[in-house]
Amino acid sequence: MKVIRTIAEFRNHRESFGKLGFVPTMGALHQGHLSLMEQSAKENDTSAISIFVNPLQFGPNEDLSKYPRQEAEDLEMASSVGVKVAFCPSVEEMLGRNTTSVTVSGVSDLFEGEKRPGHFTGVATIVAQLFGIVQPNVAYFGLKDLQQCAVIRQMVDDLCIPVELKFCETVREPSGLAMSSRNNYFSPDEFERASNLNRVIVVCAKEIAEDFENRKSAIESAINELANLEFEVQYLELVNSLTMQPVTDQKVGQILSQKLGQTEKESNPYRIIVAAQFCGVRLIDNVPLPNPLAN
Ligand code: PAJ
Repeated sequence: MKVIRTIAEFRNHRESFGKLGFVPTMGALHQGHLSLMEQSAKENDTSAISIFVNPLQFGPNEDLSKYPRQEAEDLEMASSVGVKVAFCPSVEEMLGRNTTSVTVSGVSDLFEGEKRPGHFTGVATIVAQLFGIVQPNVAYFGLKDLQQCAVIRQMVDDLCIPVELKFCETVREPSGLAMSSRNNYFSPDEFERASNLNRVIVVCAKEIAEDFENRKSAIESAINELANLEFEVQYLELVNSLTMQPVTDQKVGQILSQKLGQTEKESNPYRIIVAAQFCGVRLIDNVPLPNPLAN
C-alpha cells in the first residue's frame, strides 16, 4: 500500500497507476466502504482511496472534532481488499489556498441540503478537487448517501468531468441498520434499536408499491411509528432519486404498477428516504420501492 500525502506526489505517480478506480472516504472504514473498494479493485488496474475528514461539509454544530479517526487501521483494512494507493492529505494541503467552491443547485435544494446548509457545497467542492488530483477513470459512491450520489452525478455532468461514476447498494448490519461510521457512537442497546429505522421504511416502501393512492397515509404512519420508537424524524419522503424531488404525480403510481416489472426494474429511481435523530446520533437511510409485480 502506497500512502501519498501531497498533491504533487500524487501527480508524479498518476501515470503509473493505469486505469484507476477511486473511492473517496472520510475514514473510519467499515464493510460498506470496503464493498466499494472491492469492486474498484476488481474493475481497474489500480484501486485508490482517499481518507480526508472534510471540514467544509460539517456544519458548526456537527461532529467534526469527534468524527472517528483511525488511519493505521483504515489503511490495513483497505489493503486487505486490494487497495494499492491511499491519498491522505492534511487539511492544509487540501484547503490551504482554497478560494473556489462548487455549488450544485436543484438536486441539493431539499432534504439533506435543507437540513444541513452548506453541506453539499462542501462535498461537491472537495470531490471536484479530489477528482482533479486523482484523475480517476472510475469513481465509486454508496447509495446510502443517496442525495450525495445525485449531487456528484449532476456536478460531473454539468462540469463535463471525465470520470465514470458507479453507485453501489447500501451494505447493512444483519439487523438491517445501514453501516455507518456514526454507528460507533451507539451503545449496544441503541445499536440494536437503531435498526427500526430501516425496518419501518422497508414496510412503508412495500405499502406504497402495493397501494400508491394511499402513499400519504403510509408515510404518515411510518413517521408516527418511528416517533413512538424514539426517533425524531426530520424527513421521510418518496422521491425520484435522480432529481431528489418528492414524487407527487399519480402517473408514477401507474408507471410503478404497470411497467416496473418489465422494463424499468433495473433503473427504478423511486426511493423512500429518511433522516432521523436517534439517541443523539443523526441517521439517514433509503430503500428502493419494491416492484409490486415481483411477488
Ligand atoms: P464517507 O461517509 O466516509 O463515505 C465514503 C463512501 O462510502 C461514500 O460514497 C458513502 O456513500 C459510502 N458508504 C458509506 N456507508 C455505506 C454503506 N453502508 N454501504 C455502502 N456504501 C457506503 O461520503 C463521504 O465519506 C464524503 O461525503 C466524501 C464523498 C468522502 C466527500 O468528503
